[in-house]
Amino acid sequence: MSSTMPQFEKSTVHMRDPERVEQIICGLIKGGASKLQIITDFDMTLSKFAINGKRCPSCHYIIENCRLVSEECRQKLLQLKNKYYPIEIDPHLTMEEKYPFMVEWYFKSHTLLVEQRIEKDKLAEMVRESDAALREGYEQFFDRLQQHDVPVFIFSAGLGDVLEEILHQAGVYHPNVKVVSNFMDFDENGVLKGFKGELIHVYNKHDGALRNTDYFKQVKDYSNIILMGDSLGDLSMADGAPNVENILKIGFLNDKVEERLDKYLDSYDIVLVKDETLEVPNAILQKVL
Ligand code: TMP
Ligand code: MG
Repeated sequence: MSSTMPQFEKSTVHMRDPERVEQIICGLIKGGASKLQIITDFDMTLSKFAINGKRCPSCHYIIENCRLVSEECRQKLLQLKNKYYPIEIDPHLTMEEKYPFMVEWYFKSHTLLVEQRIEKDKLAEMVRESDAALREGYEQFFDRLQQHDVPVFIFSAGLGDVLEEILHQAGVYHPNVKVVSNFMDFDENGVLKGFKGELIHVYNKHDGALRNTDYFKQVKDYSNIILMGDSLGDLSMADGAPNVENILKIGFLNDKVEERLDKYLDSYDIVLVKDETLEVPNAILQKVL
């Protein structure tokens, strides 16, 4: 396969079973555009993890780090991140063990954000002034998917309003893209008062997938899936899809690589290690579409 896809030769690309990957890609090619759908995470999957070693912001961090949040609140959010992010990526804990900690993190973090009385009108500016960055090759990725009418489901435990603004400012929020995430609820003055619907955190995407069965019913004929994520919790994002012929799981392993590579190779078909680009997904799309 590497003869036809030089991108697979990159040192960032890891696979437990290259033959199986080839088989799945063949299935995707056979099905073509009319059967393909994308199900993808956002933070640290579509967005960059780091640029020259410096961490890039998650949706939450964009708000946390903006001028409109008080220094005291920023410190509290930072303390939360220092406590809970290591749990999120701890290779020695199971998803079940991490789950209650994630609920705690989101509850505390969202409560602090509400206390800051964030204004809806300011979101665009917050994103514009942030270091938010989508992975290299994002234009090609989104534009090609739009040209071929491929449904794209972005399933994020980040902040929906921020994520949508990032896509919008990048010029890639095309009509084939559907976002399911934590959306802010504003009062009549446009001030944040809470969050809509049920919380999506890193390890309950399974529940969220099943809650979105209406979406998955609409795209039920798109039985070939490319799933992309950076967390083991992202692997259940396609659980609501009723009829799957071929699924190719691409995982971005950004952090704690040595400790986690084995587990990632067990669960993702292709693991991209510290790869800040969408070159591999784009190369596959080029073959399929
Ligand atoms: P994702 O599902 O789009 O990847 O978004 C979830 C990420 O957001 C996850 O990696 C945890 C992260 N996060 C923060 O960075 N700060 C926070 O305050 C919270 C609650 C989550
Ligand atoms: Mg993520």
